[in-house]
Amino acid sequence: MSKSFPFDEKKIKEIIATYPTPFHIYDEAALRQTARNLKQAFSWSKDYINYFAVKANPNPYLMEILKEEGMGADASSLAELILSDKIGLKGQQIMFTSNNTPPDEYKKAYELGAVINLDDISQIGVLEKALGGKFPEFISFRYNPGPDLQTGEGNTIGSPKDAKFGVTTAQLPEAYKIARDKGAKRFGLHTMVVSNELNEDAHIQTATMIFEMALKLSDEVGVNIEQVNFGGGLGVAYKPTDKEIDLEKVSQGIKAEYERLIKGTTLDPLRIVTENGRYVTGPNGYLITSARSLKNTYHNFVGVDSCMADLMRPGMYDAYHHISVVGKEGQPKKPQRIVGGLCENNDIFTCKTDRDLPEIEVGDVLVIHDTGAHGRSMGFNYNGKLRHGELLLKEDGSVKQIRRNETLEDYFATLDYPGL
Ligand SMILES: Cc1ncc(COP(=O)(O)O)c(C=O)c1O
Repeated sequence: MSKSFPFDEKKIKEIIATYPTPFHIYDEAALRQTARNLKQAFSWSKDYINYFAVKANPNPYLMEILKEEGMGADASSLAELILSDKIGLKGQQIMFTSNNTPPDEYKKAYELGAVINLDDISQIGVLEKALGGKFPEFISFRYNPGPDLQTGEGNTIGSPKDAKFGVTTAQLPEAYKIARDKGAKRFGLHTMVVSNELNEDAHIQTATMIFEMALKLSDEVGVNIEQVNFGGGLGVAYKPTDKEIDLEKVSQGIKAEYERLIKGTTLDPLRIVTENGRYVTGPNGYLITSARSLKNTYHNFVGVDSCMADLMRPGMYDAYHHISVVGKEGQPKKPQRIVGGLCENNDIFTCKTDRDLPEIEVGDVLVIHDTGAHGRSMGFNYNGKLRHGELLLKEDGSVKQIRRNETLEDYFATLDYPGL
């Protein structure tokens, strides 16, 4: 199976004539369609919303499109709260899920009326102090089931018992009691235990776990949980051999669990929300880069004009990203390694392995697929490498620059040194 991209050779050459490589480009039509598919899948659930995980792609132009499609924002930092506010999201359209949180971030989240989701029982006091003795009326806690939940081998987020996130099973009832004593009247429950998960059953299992915990809290503590958040984690079929996740199967499985566990109880109607990032923007973004140098030593290296600064997932997680060589589809292949120019031996888009690709020549344009989430946003400036900009391929076929390239001036901006 091959993976497609939303432009032909002529179109990409036209774009490159105005915006030289490298750059990230996002497909607006596909992005809207993904957002609609997600909303449609959960249409059985009244008031369902996906809070787009801003960390996946903190570009306000994309966030604005997602807002138009009915999404809120899951912010994890001050910058992400500000972005959510600037695109016009209000109050509980914003969820604030952070950890090890500084007081000014809590203050901002409170000012915006966001749903504050606490990562630890100790944060109850930290939040109250940050707010000068006040406490939000609506509060949510992030649940970490620890050894109570076994996740699969390939789960990027790791085993819950080793994760730094969330409140334990034993602590959770106490956390709600304390929050209630501080004045909270409305309650949410959150978790994030799977990441990049293509197995539908894992998502249904998360829902079961959360529904059961909401019932337990209602019985034991007497708090009425009104919103459950399953977190993000819907997977992307990065490899051509991966099977895309079946949203309908996930949603119908969760619906069946809702009917089995929640329907007819005091928690019904219970609002269901998610905070997917990867699934939403991931497959709808591409990193476009050109071959700059060829080097034949123990491997056939192809040096491109992008590097880990623009996409660190292959270097950091050994994550597969499919690569197409524009205009050479169907040509005979040979093993090659696609590398950036960073002084790091994991700056290899093909993950420290050779990949069979059509023979690449200097000047060839490469499309690195599925870079729309945790791509540009995870970039960094090690080695003085500058991160590149972002383009939007609009629904009418025109292209808009939605973030410019970083410049040396940007890189030196925090230094007060003569001549820089
Ligand atoms: C709390 C939380 N919510 C949502 C997400 C988004 O996850 P994904 O982009 O895999 O859907 C993350 C990712 O790290 C997260 O930490």
